[in-house]
Formats: sequence, structure tokens, C-alpha cells
Amino acid sequence: MSNLAAGSHCDLAIIGAGAAGLAAAIFAGEAAQRSDLRRIVLLDGAKTLGAKILVSGGGRCNVTHDEVSPTDFFGNRRIIKNVLAAFSVEETLQWFTSMGVELKREETGKLFPVSDKSRTVLNALVDRCRRLGVTVCPDHRVRTIEQGRGAEAGFRIHHAHGTLLAKKVILATGGRSIPKSGSDGFGYELARRLGHQVTPTVPALVPLVLDDRIFHKTLSGLSQEVELTTTVNGKTVDVRTGSLLWTHFGISGPVVMDASRFFCQARGQDEPVAVYANFLPGQTQEQVRQWFMEQAQDHPRRSLGKTLAQLFPERFADAIIQHAGCEGQTASAQLPRKDRDHLIVMLTKFPFPIVKDRGWNYAEVTAGGVPLEEINFRTMESKLVPGLYFVGEILDCDGRIGGFNFQWAWTTGRLAGRSAMNVL
Ligand code: FDA
Repeated sequence: MSNLAAGSHCDLAIIGAGAAGLAAAIFAGEAAQRSDLRRIVLLDGAKTLGAKILVSGGGRCNVTHDEVSPTDFFGNRRIIKNVLAAFSVEETLQWFTSMGVELKREETGKLFPVSDKSRTVLNALVDRCRRLGVTVCPDHRVRTIEQGRGAEAGFRIHHAHGTLLAKKVILATGGRSIPKSGSDGFGYELARRLGHQVTPTVPALVPLVLDDRIFHKTLSGLSQEVELTTTVNGKTVDVRTGSLLWTHFGISGPVVMDASRFFCQARGQDEPVAVYANFLPGQTQEQVRQWFMEQAQDHPRRSLGKTLAQLFPERFADAIIQHAGCEGQTASAQLPRKDRDHLIVMLTKFPFPIVKDRGWNYAEVTAGGVPLEEINFRTMESKLVPGLYFVGEILDCDGRIGGFNFQWAWTTGRLAGRSAMNVL
């Protein structure tokens, strides 16, 4: 790892050595062999590189997904589609193989390194950068970027140890999630000062905190399949089915994380937002009512608790019965109609009393960022500032859980790295 001498210069400076910056550096380094631009410098504010890659996928790094489509992302899907087309999953797998990282597919379609260790991925990326002659500089936080004027084209980059002159710059500073990793949102400020807009940023892929007065604590650790519906101003904006995890603070799990961006965006804009669960995905209230009536007829003396335990884990059955104001011991045939109807609503349209999201320290990504409309999707170059490129999470695009955010980082990194070297 290098320390830059005062007043150094380079052809390409990449700011941020996360997934997108490392990918950009590698593709630029490879393209440099065929380009008259040669010197590439990768700067990062963190003392040790790759914090986020290391924690990703529960320490296993979910590198990508076996099927990637624009609908796995939020943002301008027309542009996202064009970007994704530049680097297929097949090519991504080959790229990792070429760096000595074999990937395996899990049942869910997620791809992980065979080693099950994020470290394998991080080491391969950093080693490849070094071998390609990229100057890698941790502990070089960038404070300002000035555009050169007149004869002095390019950029002046003021970092923790001095100034670097660069003909071109790739901004790969990530978003705001896990600020202590170094991605604290300052990159947006750098983008703004260079003339770019930044759409409002809110946490995405984040767990949600529930009102302490409900039962979530008693269910902590329990997972169940649910259908989540998010409404904003009474209008449905998202419906998805998947696994919900009850926790000591509220709700998490893939379906909650994926839906959280809609909740956070609405809250960020002070719009009334509600998230409902159907704990019997695919079943309508009418179907559930029918089932209850059949149960009451066939097993009139069976308790409500036992009746519901046929459909749900006992802990959940007990909690929801109590929450609905019913008695678990009541014989199913004796359940007053009003109580039964209320219980059915609780089972099929349960309104989560969400207090807040869990915040940037727990969010996996950022929704919002530099608008894709300000970027040339063929090159990732800014339409406003020639020679400036954007890659990864700093852009206004966020993917759902499953390896999609890394795929976005690799793909945008590849496009920018190659085009900054004038090789496409
Ligand atoms: P990233 O944030 O990774 O890197 C930005 C870099 O820029 C940082 O190293 C930072 O230090 C540096 N930087 C910032 N400002 C700077 C400045 N002013 N000067 C110099 N350097 C600066 N995705 C996925 O696809 N599969 C997964 O398994 C997971 N798992 C996961 C788990 C957890 C806990 C989190 C938090 C996130 C994930 N993700 C994920 C999301 C994924 O990690 C994320 O989308 C990418 O890391 C984004 O890559 P970037 O390179 O754009 O930003």
C-alpha cells in the first residue's frame, strides 16, 4: 500500500476502494495495457480496505445472483437496463474465475465464493489491482476535488496527505450505510460541488423498529413466510412475499429489508406510510373465514390456540390471539363472530406499528444519490463534467437483497474503468 508524494499526478484517480472502486481500478488497469493512459491511483479514506465486502453476506459475500434483471433494482429502470447489459452474470463469473475466485450457486440463486469467505473476494480484487500496477492508497481521505481550468485540464484532488493531479476521476465513494466503514455520504458533497444533483438519500435494506408495546420480543428469532404490502397515502406502492424475521427490536429478514426502502422514502418525505402483513400469503380474508368456519364445524371443541397452531408456530399463534384480544382457550365454535372477524384481519392485514427504521448503522445500502439521468450510461461519465465518472452506490440506484448491489458495483466499475482509459 502506498503513500503519495506531495504534488503527485496520475492519468486516472479512483476515489473509494470499495467494490465499485476496486472493479473500476482493475478494468482500468487491464485497459491501460492498450491505452496511452497508464498511471492509475486508487485512494480510500479508510486505513484498511474493504470493510463492507468483508461484512457482506454475513461474512460470505453474496457476489451476485444467477439471474439479474432491471426489476431487481429501483431507480430509472430504462437506464439501469442499459447499464446491466454491459456485463452479464456469465461474464461476471468468468471475471471472478480469472481472479481465482470460484463461485457456487445456492438454492435461492445467490452466488457465493466456494470458500464461503468474503476475504477470498477482497484479497483477489486487491491482488489483481496490485499486479496491474494500480497505486493503492488507504488512509487517503479526499477532502475536495477541483476542476482544472484552461491549460490545466483535469482535476486537483486534495487528500489527507497532499494534492494529486489527475486527468480523470472516478467517484466511487459509496453511500451512507455503515458510516464507520468510511462511506459516510461525503461523496455526495464532492459530487454536488462538481455541479451534480443528489436525490434525497434514505436507508434501504434496513430492519424496522416496532412500537415496544407489541409482542415482537416474545417472538425474537422466529422466521415466517409473509406477504408484505406497503401503502403510501393509502395507495399500494409495493407488495412482496418472503421470509420475515421477528427480532428483539422489531422486524427484519429479506422481505422486510426489501420493502424498507419504500417505508424510508415515504417517511423521509413526511408522507403517511403503512406496512401490512398477510401471515397467510396468497389467502384472502374470505378464504381464511371459510377455513375458520370449517374448523369450527369439524372440531367445535378444539381451542382457538390449537386451531391456529395448525397454520403457525405456536409462539406466533399465542401472540396474535392475545394481540387480537381473544382467548387461546376458547373453543373454536364458541368464538364470537366479531372476535373471529377481528382475528382474521390481524392474520391477513396486520398493520405493523413501525416507529422508525434502524438507521444507517444497520442499512445495507442507500436509496437515492446522483441521478442516473446525469450520467452517460455507455461510459458512466458525467454529462456535466467531462473526465468525471460515477460508479456503485453513490448513484441513484439500489438493488434488492441477493447480490444485486454488488453486481451493480462490478458492472458500473467495469464500464467506467474501461471508458476512462479510452478502451471500450
Ligand atoms: P462502498 O461503500 O463499498 O465503498 C466506498 C468506499 O469509498 C469506502 O471504502 C470508503 O472508505 C471510501 N470513501 C468514502 N468517502 C471517501 C472520501 N472522501 N475519500 C476517500 N475514500 C472515501 N451487497 C450484495 O450485493 N451482496 C451482499 O451480500 C451484501 N451484503 C451487505 C451486508 C452489509 C452489512 C452491508 C452494509 C452491505 C451489503 N451489501 C451487499 C451492499 C454492498 O456492500 C454495497 O452495495 C457495495 O459495497 C457498494 O459498493 P461501493 O464501492 O459503491 O461503495
